[in-house]
Amino acid sequence: MNSRRTRIYEGKAKILYEGPEPGTIIVHFKDDATAFNAQKKAVIEGKGVLNQRISEFIFTRLNELGIPTHFLRSLNMREQLVREVEIVPLEVVVRNVAAGSLAKRLGIDEGTQLPRSIIEFYYKNDQLGDPMVSEEHITAFNWASPQEIDDMMHMAIRINDFMSGLFLGIGIKLVDFKIEFGRLYENDMMRIVLADEISPDSCRLWDIKTQDKLDKDRFRRDMGGLVEAYQEVARRLGIIAEGEKPERSKPKLVKTDLN
Ligand SMILES: Nc1ncnc2c1ncn2[C@@H]1O[C@H](COP(=O)(O)OP(=O)(O)OP(=O)(O)O)[C@@H](O)[C@H]1O
Ligand SMILES: [Mg+2]
Repeated sequence: MNSRRTRIYEGKAKILYEGPEPGTIIVHFKDDATAFNAQKKAVIEGKGVLNQRISEFIFTRLNELGIPTHFLRSLNMREQLVREVEIVPLEVVVRNVAAGSLAKRLGIDEGTQLPRSIIEFYYKNDQLGDPMVSEEHITAFNWASPQEIDDMMHMAIRINDFMSGLFLGIGIKLVDFKIEFGRLYENDMMRIVLADEISPDSCRLWDIKTQDKLDKDRFRRDMGGLVEAYQEVARRLGIIAEGEKPERSKPKLVKTDLN
């Protein structure tokens, strides 16, 4: 099945294949984990399936709320059909609590609640290490128009409001997350939609009671237990049943998401 498809792009965590119809692509979630601009690498069995299923869940809820996304449907445990978009070359980060690079750069203790949610933009360029940029840079270099920046910021705030509540309800604090947007061309129209993925690879999620990290920081910081943490997130979201282990070798599970 995989061998007959045309591969469009292989990234660090996902592979893109041509979709069945023009304007669609298939996103395949790999088990590969990378951090620190791919200086650190590992294969973590089961991660791709969990990310696909968690991302599917969140994108479906966002679509229901009227937030436009690229997501069409899951094809199987590891793959989803999405609309092909022209990716805006920015990573949009929303922060609620100080962590990671913000804590480091500004000397704020990790875990400090921020006075309000903060949106940051990073220029998507691995060679440059995804540098932080301002709206001035974005418009001067034509990476996005002022209207598109406005649209992305409004959507980012709505996504943050929804996800903060979603996770709070299952005992998890949404510390921060990264999203990507794309331009969707339909008839003579173009609009900005949410693209890529939302998963524990792209969020910081802390257990409210124990402060345990349930995200990719477990890999960045060599803490171990990454799959178990992602499973816990999926379990609390109701995506996987109690005790269920989404392994490749379990045929019963491989079938559940096929449609
Ligand atoms: N709907 C879409 N249409 C086209 N490209 C997409 C879409 N959704 C996501 N992408 C792009 O597909 C790639 C996904 O692969 P992956 O996340 O592994 O990339 P990556 O190694 O992280 O590289 P990048 O720095 O570009 O994100 C990303 O480049 C992402 O921007
Ligand atoms: Mg990526």
